[in-house]
Amino acid sequence: MPSALPSLAAIARVPDDLVAAAVALCLDAAALPVLLRALDLDLPARLARGPATLDGLAAEEADRATSVALEMVLELGCGFGLFARRDRRYELTVLARTCFLADSPLRLLGLVERHRRYVAAIAALPAALRETKRADRRVWSSEADAGAQADYFRARAAFNEASRDYFRDTASLLARAHCRRDLAAHRVVCDVGAGPAAFAAILKAAAPHLQVHAVEITYEDPAYLATTAEDLRAAGLDVALHALNVLHEPLPPAIDLLTANRLFSGLDRDGADGWAERLYAALAPGGTLALVDFFATGEPAHDRSVAALVALWMAWNRHELQRAPLTDPSDDRHAWGWNPPWRCDELARVLARAGFHDIRARSVVPPFALIEARK
Ligand SMILES: C[S@@+](CC[C@H](N)C(=O)[O-])C[C@H]1O[C@@H](n2cnc3c(N)ncnc32)[C@H](O)[C@@H]1O
Repeated sequence: MPSALPSLAAIARVPDDLVAAAVALCLDAAALPVLLRALDLDLPARLARGPATLDGLAAEEADRATSVALEMVLELGCGFGLFARRDRRYELTVLARTCFLADSPLRLLGLVERHRRYVAAIAALPAALRETKRADRRVWSSEADAGAQADYFRARAAFNEASRDYFRDTASLLARAHCRRDLAAHRVVCDVGAGPAAFAAILKAAAPHLQVHAVEITYEDPAYLATTAEDLRAAGLDVALHALNVLHEPLPPAIDLLTANRLFSGLDRDGADGWAERLYAALAPGGTLALVDFFATGEPAHDRSVAALVALWMAWNRHELQRAPLTDPSDDRHAWGWNPPWRCDELARVLARAGFHDIRARSVVPPFALIEARK
């Protein structure tokens, strides 16, 4: 892997409020530009070497930022919890040290970079609130023809590759949902829609006795598969990669922990039952299903975070469509549009209809929630 993934134990050690504050910065339309500018000026890395005065920092960066601009970034960064000022010297906070350095224990730089695109897009939110049409996610559902799905996901491989750092650096947030799980009680884990397999890798590193499978339709793409396999090999982790369409091909046998992260949030209301039935069929009796995703839980602080994220997505969609209007009928963006965030209670009903029981839900770190159920 490019930089070492955090261990599950290290992920568990970071306090909830600190992770929540770091993620919240990326969702805050005023804080995000300050964080990005601080990173562009390498301020976290420079202050990680020790406290520094404004004059000292300005002298180092005279060609990149005036001292007024630098003061603004530092002072606003103090307000947003990135820096602290003591005796005219600025220093890095625990939050910035934990999440925003290249070698941070819970590195969230991939999340910050993914959100960079929202800075210019946020102004499109009012227009999005007036004019967005409903999303069309039929190709993600079990109703869709396997050939159409193969074409769609082949065309989407570049998007998945461009999202590798984002998925990788936020796998720690998914894995937080499993910190309290007794992994010793499991033998065979399968992560479906696994993307870069970083989440699967964290589980394998935490519990080497586990047989870990990562299933992903984009592994049909040789370059995407090769990079994923190379990252795992470099980390010395034995995760089996399967190029499979989960909706149309059988999963590995004897799975007793089945995970699917950030998958159901991409499904429309008609598409979820087919997925739940497939996952139920793939799980061994007594096994556990665990979904971590952007689900609303009903808790105000959690749901505010989900709303903030979805608002950013909608603004960005609108911004992109304005920037480069649709002309090609096969353009994937025809499917873009409004799909209300899933609420845990409605998803619980979907899982119950498929046969799952003992269904529980909780916030992991807003906007991520966990739903788990037993077969
Ligand atoms: C939003 S991404 C999330 C990736 C990863 N789970 C994470 O959270 O970092 C959803 C993934 O599901 C995969 N996927 C969607 N439908 C699939 C199918 N029918 N079979 C296998 N993978 C599928 C997509 O290719 C994509 O990589």
